Amino acid sequence: MSSSTSPLFQPVVVAGHALPHRVALAPMTRARSTQPGDAANAMMAQYYAQRASAALIVTEASQISPQGKGYSFTPGIYSTEQVVGWRLVTDAVHAKGGRIFVQLWHVGRMSHPDFHDGALPVAPSAIPFDGQIWKVNATTGVGEMVQCPTPRELSVDEIRAIVNDFRRAARNAMDAGFDGVEIHGANGYLVDQFLRTTSNTRTDEYGGSRANRLRFLREVVDAVSEEIGAERTAIRLAPFLTARGMACPDILPTILEAAEFLQARGVAYVHLVEADWDDAPEFTETFRESLRARFARPIVVAGNYDRAKAEWVLSKGYADVVAFGRPFVANPDFPRRLAEGLPLASFDGSTLFGGTDRGYLDYPAWSGAAASANETLDTETVEA
Ligand SMILES: Cc1cc2nc3c(=O)[nH]c(=O)nc-3n(C[C@H](O)[C@H](O)[C@H](O)COP(=O)(O)O)c2cc1C
Repeated sequence: MSSSTSPLFQPVVVAGHALPHRVALAPMTRARSTQPGDAANAMMAQYYAQRASAALIVTEASQISPQGKGYSFTPGIYSTEQVVGWRLVTDAVHAKGGRIFVQLWHVGRMSHPDFHDGALPVAPSAIPFDGQIWKVNATTGVGEMVQCPTPRELSVDEIRAIVNDFRRAARNAMDAGFDGVEIHGANGYLVDQFLRTTSNTRTDEYGGSRANRLRFLREVVDAVSEEIGAERTAIRLAPFLTARGMACPDILPTILEAAEFLQARGVAYVHLVEADWDDAPEFTETFRESLRARFARPIVVAGNYDRAKAEWVLSKGYADVVAFGRPFVANPDFPRRLAEGLPLASFDGSTLFGGTDRGYLDYPAWSGAAASANETLDTETVEA
Protein backbone atom coordinates (compact mmCIF):
# COMPACT_ATOMS: atom_id res chain seq x y z
CA MET A 1 0.00 0.00 0.00
CA SER A 2 1.48 3.38 -0.93
CA SER A 3 1.77 6.08 1.71
CA SER A 4 -0.78 8.27 -0.01
CA THR A 5 -3.45 5.57 0.33
CA SER A 6 -2.24 3.92 3.57
CA PRO A 7 -4.57 4.50 6.53
CA LEU A 8 -1.42 5.07 8.63
CA PHE A 9 -0.73 8.30 6.82
CA GLN A 10 -4.21 9.82 6.82
CA PRO A 11 -4.97 12.71 9.19
CA VAL A 12 -7.20 12.26 12.21
CA VAL A 13 -8.46 14.47 15.03
CA VAL A 14 -7.66 13.31 18.58
CA ALA A 15 -8.32 15.40 21.67
CA GLY A 16 -9.09 18.39 19.46
CA HIS A 17 -5.70 18.15 17.70
CA ALA A 18 -5.40 17.56 13.98
CA LEU A 19 -2.84 14.76 13.76
CA PRO A 20 -1.19 14.65 10.32
CA HIS A 21 -0.87 10.82 10.41
CA ARG A 22 -1.42 7.87 12.81
CA VAL A 23 2.11 6.97 13.98
CA ALA A 24 2.41 7.89 17.67
CA LEU A 25 5.33 7.53 20.09
CA ALA A 26 4.48 5.00 22.83
CA PRO A 27 5.46 5.86 26.40
CA MET A 28 8.98 4.66 27.18
CA THR A 29 10.77 4.98 30.49
CA ARG A 30 14.35 6.10 29.83
CA ALA A 31 15.32 7.03 33.42
CA ARG A 32 17.33 10.17 32.77
CA SER A 33 15.72 12.70 35.10
CA THR A 34 17.91 15.11 37.07
CA GLN A 35 19.02 13.83 40.48
CA PRO A 36 18.15 14.49 43.20
CA GLY A 37 14.57 15.59 42.63
CA ASP A 38 13.49 13.39 39.67
CA ALA A 39 13.01 16.46 37.44
CA ALA A 40 12.73 16.45 33.67
CA ASN A 41 15.57 18.37 32.05
CA ALA A 42 17.06 19.88 28.87
CA MET A 43 18.40 16.50 27.72
CA MET A 44 14.90 15.03 27.86
CA ALA A 45 13.54 18.10 26.04
CA GLN A 46 15.97 17.43 23.20
CA TYR A 47 15.05 13.72 23.10
CA TYR A 48 11.33 14.41 22.79
CA ALA A 49 11.86 17.30 20.33
CA GLN A 50 13.83 14.91 18.10
CA ARG A 51 10.67 12.76 18.00
CA ALA A 52 8.18 15.61 17.47
CA SER A 53 7.16 14.30 14.05
CA ALA A 54 5.14 11.62 15.88
CA ALA A 55 1.38 12.08 15.47
CA LEU A 56 1.26 12.22 19.25
CA ILE A 57 3.98 11.81 21.88
CA VAL A 58 3.11 10.02 25.10
CA THR A 59 5.96 10.61 27.54
CA GLU A 60 7.59 8.03 29.73
CA ALA A 61 5.59 7.30 32.87
CA SER A 62 5.90 10.07 35.46
CA GLN A 63 5.16 9.40 39.12
CA ILE A 64 2.37 11.48 40.69
CA SER A 65 3.93 11.36 44.17
CA PRO A 66 7.06 10.06 45.88
CA GLN A 67 4.97 7.03 46.90
CA GLY A 68 4.15 6.36 43.24
CA LYS A 69 7.78 5.73 42.32
CA GLY A 70 9.17 2.27 41.63
CA TYR A 71 12.28 2.63 39.46
CA SER A 72 15.46 4.67 39.69
CA PHE A 73 15.70 8.05 37.93
CA THR A 74 12.13 8.19 36.59
CA PRO A 75 10.71 11.73 36.43
CA GLY A 76 7.99 12.96 38.77
CA ILE A 77 5.20 15.46 38.20
CA TYR A 78 4.36 16.58 41.74
CA SER A 79 7.01 19.23 42.63
CA THR A 80 7.50 22.76 41.30
CA GLU A 81 10.97 21.83 40.10
CA GLN A 82 9.52 18.92 38.10
CA VAL A 83 6.88 21.16 36.49
CA VAL A 84 9.63 23.58 35.48
CA GLY A 85 11.61 20.68 33.98
CA TRP A 86 8.63 19.36 32.03
CA ARG A 87 8.00 22.88 30.69
CA LEU A 88 11.33 22.61 28.86
CA VAL A 89 10.06 19.41 27.23
CA THR A 90 6.63 20.70 26.16
CA ASP A 91 8.09 23.97 24.83
CA ALA A 92 10.68 22.08 22.76
CA VAL A 93 8.07 19.70 21.32
CA HIS A 94 5.57 22.46 20.57
CA ALA A 95 8.29 24.55 18.91
CA LYS A 96 8.71 21.66 16.47
CA GLY A 97 4.93 21.46 15.88
CA GLY A 98 4.36 18.32 17.98
CA ARG A 99 1.68 17.29 20.46
CA ILE A 100 2.51 15.74 23.81
CA PHE A 101 0.63 13.96 26.62
CA VAL A 102 2.32 13.01 29.88
CA GLN A 103 1.74 9.56 31.32
CA LEU A 104 0.65 9.72 35.00
CA TRP A 105 1.95 6.85 37.09
CA HIS A 106 1.57 5.23 40.47
CA VAL A 107 3.39 1.90 40.58
CA GLY A 108 1.60 0.51 43.67
CA ARG A 109 3.23 -2.75 44.72
CA MET A 110 5.84 -2.70 41.95
CA SER A 111 8.30 -0.81 44.09
CA HIS A 112 10.94 -1.22 46.75
CA PRO A 113 11.44 0.13 50.31
CA ASP A 114 14.67 1.82 49.16
CA PHE A 115 12.51 4.41 47.36
CA HIS A 116 10.42 5.06 50.47
CA ASP A 117 12.89 5.48 53.34
CA GLY A 118 12.47 1.81 54.17
CA ALA A 119 8.64 1.81 54.17
CA LEU A 120 6.79 -0.91 52.28
CA PRO A 121 5.25 -0.19 48.87
CA VAL A 122 1.44 0.06 48.89
CA ALA A 123 -1.25 -1.86 47.00
CA PRO A 124 -4.98 -2.68 47.06
CA SER A 125 -4.10 -5.85 49.00
CA ALA A 126 -1.03 -7.27 50.72
CA ILE A 127 -0.25 -9.68 47.88
CA PRO A 128 3.27 -9.95 46.47
CA PHE A 129 3.81 -10.38 42.77
CA ASP A 130 6.21 -12.46 40.81
CA GLY A 131 8.30 -9.81 39.13
CA GLN A 132 11.14 -7.37 39.47
CA ILE A 133 11.89 -3.67 39.12
CA TRP A 134 15.04 -1.86 37.96
CA LYS A 135 16.94 -0.09 40.73
CA VAL A 136 20.40 1.37 41.00
CA ASN A 137 22.37 -0.27 43.81
CA ALA A 138 23.26 2.49 46.30
CA THR A 139 26.64 0.92 47.07
CA THR A 140 27.87 -0.06 43.62
CA GLY A 141 26.00 2.56 41.56
CA VAL A 142 25.11 -0.20 39.10
CA GLY A 143 21.55 -0.78 37.88
CA GLU A 144 20.04 -4.19 38.66
CA MET A 145 16.68 -5.95 38.65
CA VAL A 146 15.46 -6.56 42.20
CA GLN A 147 12.60 -8.52 43.73
CA CYS A 148 9.81 -6.48 45.41
CA PRO A 149 8.55 -7.31 48.91
CA THR A 150 4.96 -8.02 49.94
CA PRO A 151 3.20 -4.62 49.85
CA ARG A 152 1.07 -2.97 52.54
CA GLU A 153 -2.70 -2.73 51.98
CA LEU A 154 -3.96 0.83 51.48
CA SER A 155 -6.65 2.27 53.76
CA VAL A 156 -9.69 3.95 52.20
CA ASP A 157 -8.40 7.37 53.29
CA GLU A 158 -5.09 6.66 51.61
CA ILE A 159 -6.86 5.61 48.39
CA ARG A 160 -8.74 8.92 48.37
CA ALA A 161 -5.47 10.78 48.89
CA ILE A 162 -3.96 9.00 45.87
CA VAL A 163 -6.97 9.99 43.73
CA ASN A 164 -6.18 13.54 44.77
CA ASP A 165 -2.51 13.06 43.86
CA PHE A 166 -3.66 12.14 40.33
CA ARG A 167 -5.81 15.28 40.25
CA ARG A 168 -2.93 17.48 41.36
CA ALA A 169 -0.54 15.86 38.89
CA ALA A 170 -3.03 16.58 36.09
CA ARG A 171 -3.13 20.23 37.12
CA ASN A 172 0.67 20.26 37.18
CA ALA A 173 0.66 18.79 33.68
CA MET A 174 -1.40 21.73 32.47
CA ASP A 175 0.96 24.15 34.22
CA ALA A 176 3.85 22.39 32.48
CA GLY A 177 2.21 22.95 29.08
CA PHE A 178 1.13 19.40 28.22
CA ASP A 179 -1.72 18.89 25.73
CA GLY A 180 -3.21 16.23 27.97
CA VAL A 181 -2.50 13.34 30.31
CA GLU A 182 -2.60 9.58 29.90
CA ILE A 183 -3.41 7.74 33.14
CA HIS A 184 -1.25 4.63 33.38
CA GLY A 185 -3.86 1.95 33.96
CA ALA A 186 -1.82 -0.83 32.37
CA ASN A 187 1.15 -3.14 32.91
CA GLY A 188 0.37 -4.22 36.46
CA TYR A 189 0.71 -0.82 38.16
CA LEU A 190 -1.66 0.59 40.78
CA VAL A 191 -4.80 1.23 38.68
CA ASP A 192 -4.38 -2.20 37.09
CA GLN A 193 -3.81 -3.78 40.52
CA PHE A 194 -7.26 -2.55 41.60
CA LEU A 195 -8.90 -4.01 38.48
CA ARG A 196 -7.79 -7.61 38.98
CA THR A 197 -8.92 -10.33 41.37
CA THR A 198 -5.34 -11.62 41.43
CA SER A 199 -4.02 -8.43 43.08
CA ASN A 200 -7.20 -7.06 44.69
CA THR A 201 -8.90 -9.19 47.36
CA ARG A 202 -10.39 -6.29 49.30
CA THR A 203 -13.78 -6.76 50.92
CA ASP A 204 -14.73 -3.04 51.06
CA GLU A 205 -16.11 -0.84 48.28
CA TYR A 206 -12.82 -1.06 46.31
CA GLY A 207 -12.77 -4.85 45.91
CA GLY A 208 -14.90 -7.89 45.12
CA SER A 209 -17.47 -7.08 42.45
CA ARG A 210 -16.49 -5.74 39.04
CA ALA A 211 -18.03 -2.38 39.89
CA ASN A 212 -15.98 -2.22 43.08
CA ARG A 213 -12.70 -3.18 41.37
CA LEU A 214 -13.44 -0.45 38.82
CA ARG A 215 -14.13 2.18 41.49
CA PHE A 216 -10.53 3.41 41.76
CA LEU A 217 -10.19 3.76 37.97
CA ARG A 218 -13.48 5.65 37.82
CA GLU A 219 -12.52 7.95 40.67
CA VAL A 220 -9.14 8.74 39.11
CA VAL A 221 -10.64 9.40 35.67
CA ASP A 222 -13.38 11.55 37.22
CA ALA A 223 -10.91 13.56 39.31
CA VAL A 224 -8.53 14.16 36.42
CA SER A 225 -11.24 15.03 33.93
CA GLU A 226 -12.95 17.37 36.40
CA GLU A 227 -9.60 19.10 36.85
CA ILE A 228 -8.46 19.46 33.22
CA GLY A 229 -11.40 18.36 31.05
CA ALA A 230 -12.27 14.90 29.75
CA GLU A 231 -10.96 15.86 26.30
CA ARG A 232 -7.47 16.10 27.80
CA THR A 233 -7.80 12.89 29.82
CA ALA A 234 -6.77 9.52 28.38
CA ILE A 235 -6.00 6.11 29.85
CA ARG A 236 -3.77 3.16 28.99
CA LEU A 237 -5.03 -0.38 29.67
CA ALA A 238 -3.55 -3.85 29.19
CA PRO A 239 -6.41 -6.36 28.87
CA PHE A 240 -4.34 -9.39 27.88
CA LEU A 241 -1.46 -8.94 30.31
CA THR A 242 -0.76 -12.09 32.29
CA ALA A 243 2.79 -11.44 33.59
CA ARG A 244 3.48 -9.64 36.90
CA GLY A 245 0.79 -11.64 38.70
CA MET A 246 -1.91 -10.13 36.49
CA ALA A 247 -3.60 -13.26 35.06
CA CYS A 248 -7.08 -12.30 36.31
CA PRO A 249 -9.87 -14.48 34.90
CA ASP A 250 -12.34 -11.55 34.99
CA ILE A 251 -10.16 -8.88 33.38
CA LEU A 252 -11.72 -8.80 29.90
CA PRO A 253 -15.30 -8.13 31.08
CA THR A 254 -13.89 -5.67 33.61
CA ILE A 255 -12.14 -3.70 30.89
CA LEU A 256 -15.22 -3.80 28.66
CA GLU A 257 -17.19 -2.30 31.52
CA ALA A 258 -14.48 0.34 31.93
CA ALA A 259 -14.83 1.11 28.21
CA GLU A 260 -18.54 1.90 28.65
CA PHE A 261 -17.72 4.29 31.46
CA LEU A 262 -14.88 5.92 29.48
CA GLN A 263 -17.17 6.39 26.48
CA ALA A 264 -19.82 8.05 28.66
CA ARG A 265 -17.15 10.23 30.28
CA GLY A 266 -15.92 11.37 26.84
CA VAL A 267 -12.20 10.81 27.41
CA ALA A 268 -9.64 11.78 24.74
CA TYR A 269 -8.66 8.20 23.90
CA VAL A 270 -8.12 4.70 25.22
CA HIS A 271 -4.63 3.31 24.68
CA LEU A 272 -4.35 -0.50 24.57
CA VAL A 273 -1.11 -2.28 25.33
CA GLU A 274 -1.15 -5.42 23.24
CA ALA A 275 2.31 -6.64 24.14
CA ASP A 276 4.60 -5.03 26.65
CA TRP A 277 7.83 -6.09 25.02
CA ASP A 278 6.91 -9.64 23.95
CA ASP A 279 5.00 -11.02 26.89
CA ALA A 280 1.29 -10.89 26.10
CA PRO A 281 -0.96 -13.30 24.26
CA GLU A 282 -2.46 -12.16 20.95
CA PHE A 283 -5.42 -9.83 21.11
CA THR A 284 -8.50 -11.60 19.81
CA GLU A 285 -10.65 -10.00 17.14
CA THR A 286 -13.69 -10.80 19.26
CA PHE A 287 -12.30 -8.61 22.01
CA ARG A 288 -11.42 -5.81 19.57
CA GLU A 289 -14.99 -5.89 18.24
CA SER A 290 -16.50 -5.93 21.71
CA LEU A 291 -14.38 -2.99 22.78
CA ARG A 292 -15.17 -0.99 19.65
CA ALA A 293 -18.89 -1.65 20.18
CA ARG A 294 -18.60 0.03 23.60
CA PHE A 295 -16.04 2.72 22.85
CA ALA A 296 -16.50 4.82 19.72
CA ARG A 297 -13.95 7.49 20.61
CA PRO A 298 -10.26 7.26 19.50
CA ILE A 299 -8.43 4.02 20.27
CA VAL A 300 -4.64 3.91 20.27
CA VAL A 301 -2.94 0.50 20.11
CA ALA A 302 0.69 -0.47 20.74
CA GLY A 303 2.80 -3.60 20.89
CA ASN A 304 4.95 -5.25 18.25
CA TYR A 305 3.33 -3.41 15.35
CA ASP A 306 4.88 -3.17 11.93
CA ARG A 307 3.46 -1.28 8.99
CA ALA A 308 1.34 -4.14 7.64
CA LYS A 309 -0.23 -4.96 11.01
CA ALA A 310 -0.83 -1.26 11.70
CA GLU A 311 -2.62 -0.84 8.38
CA TRP A 312 -4.72 -3.91 9.14
CA VAL A 313 -5.84 -2.70 12.58
CA LEU A 314 -6.70 0.77 11.25
CA SER A 315 -8.53 -0.49 8.18
CA LYS A 316 -10.63 -2.85 10.31
CA GLY A 317 -11.70 0.15 12.40
CA TYR A 318 -10.29 -1.43 15.59
CA ALA A 319 -7.98 1.53 16.21
CA ASP A 320 -7.44 5.12 15.11
CA VAL A 321 -3.76 5.57 15.95
CA VAL A 322 -0.89 3.08 16.33
CA ALA A 323 1.83 3.82 18.88
CA PHE A 324 5.33 2.47 18.37
CA GLY A 325 7.88 2.14 21.15
CA ARG A 326 11.14 0.38 20.38
CA PRO A 327 11.32 1.46 16.70
CA PHE A 328 11.40 5.10 17.87
CA VAL A 329 14.41 4.58 20.15
CA ALA A 330 17.02 4.56 17.39
CA ASN A 331 14.87 6.19 14.70
CA PRO A 332 13.80 9.65 15.91
CA ASP A 333 12.24 10.27 12.48
CA PHE A 334 10.39 6.94 12.53
CA PRO A 335 7.16 8.24 10.86
CA ARG A 336 9.17 9.36 7.83
CA ARG A 337 11.12 6.11 7.69
CA LEU A 338 7.90 4.14 7.84
CA ALA A 339 6.23 6.27 5.17
CA GLU A 340 9.18 6.11 2.79
CA GLY A 341 10.32 2.56 3.50
CA LEU A 342 13.71 3.74 4.76
CA PRO A 343 16.01 1.35 6.65
CA LEU A 344 15.62 1.19 10.42
CA ALA A 345 18.48 1.55 12.86
CA SER A 346 18.55 -0.81 15.85
CA PHE A 347 19.09 0.37 19.40
CA ASP A 348 21.68 -0.44 22.02
CA GLY A 349 19.83 -2.23 24.84
CA SER A 350 22.49 -1.32 27.40
CA THR A 351 21.64 2.40 27.19
CA LEU A 352 17.83 2.11 27.42
CA PHE A 353 17.58 2.92 31.13
CA GLY A 354 19.62 5.65 32.77
CA GLY A 355 22.91 7.15 31.72
CA THR A 356 23.91 10.04 29.53
CA ASP A 357 23.03 11.31 26.09
CA ARG A 358 24.73 8.22 24.63
CA GLY A 359 22.08 5.89 23.27
CA TYR A 360 19.57 8.69 23.88
CA LEU A 361 20.28 11.79 21.81
CA ASP A 362 22.83 10.40 19.37
CA TYR A 363 20.59 8.40 17.04
CA PRO A 364 20.45 10.56 13.90
CA ALA A 365 17.52 11.25 11.62
CA TRP A 366 17.84 9.75 8.15
CA SER A 367 20.19 11.88 6.10
CA GLY A 368 20.47 9.88 2.87
CA ALA A 369 18.20 9.92 -0.14
CA ALA A 370 14.77 8.31 0.12
CA ALA A 371 14.76 4.58 -0.53
CA SER A 372 13.01 3.20 -3.57
CA ALA A 373 9.24 3.39 -3.38
CA ASN A 374 9.00 -0.39 -3.40
CA GLU A 375 11.20 -0.91 -0.38
CA THR A 376 9.22 -1.95 2.65
CA LEU A 377 9.83 -1.41 6.33
CA ASP A 378 11.12 -4.83 7.21
CA THR A 379 13.62 -5.35 4.44
CA GLU A 380 16.65 -4.25 6.39
CA THR A 381 17.84 -3.38 9.86
CA VAL A 382 21.07 -1.44 10.18
CA GLU A 383 23.18 -0.50 13.15
CA ALA A 384 23.04 3.18 14.06
C1 LIG B 1 12.43 1.00 27.13
C2 LIG B 1 10.95 0.86 27.31
C3 LIG B 1 10.31 1.57 28.31
C4 LIG B 1 8.92 1.49 28.47
N1 LIG B 1 8.30 2.28 29.40
C5 LIG B 1 6.94 2.35 29.43
C6 LIG B 1 6.28 3.31 30.25
O1 LIG B 1 6.90 4.15 30.91
N2 LIG B 1 4.92 3.29 30.24
C7 LIG B 1 4.20 2.39 29.51
O2 LIG B 1 2.97 2.41 29.55
N3 LIG B 1 4.81 1.50 28.69
C8 LIG B 1 6.15 1.47 28.62
N4 LIG B 1 6.77 0.62 27.74
C9 LIG B 1 5.94 -0.19 26.81
C10 LIG B 1 5.79 0.54 25.46
O3 LIG B 1 4.98 1.70 25.59
C11 LIG B 1 5.16 -0.37 24.39
O4 LIG B 1 3.88 -0.75 24.81
C12 LIG B 1 6.00 -1.60 24.14
O5 LIG B 1 7.36 -1.23 23.93
C13 LIG B 1 5.52 -2.38 22.91
O6 LIG B 1 5.58 -1.57 21.77
P1 LIG B 1 6.76 -1.78 20.68
O7 LIG B 1 6.70 -3.23 20.28
O8 LIG B 1 6.41 -0.83 19.56
O9 LIG B 1 8.04 -1.44 21.35
C14 LIG B 1 8.16 0.65 27.61
C15 LIG B 1 8.83 -0.08 26.63
C16 LIG B 1 10.20 0.03 26.45
C17 LIG B 1 10.84 -0.71 25.33
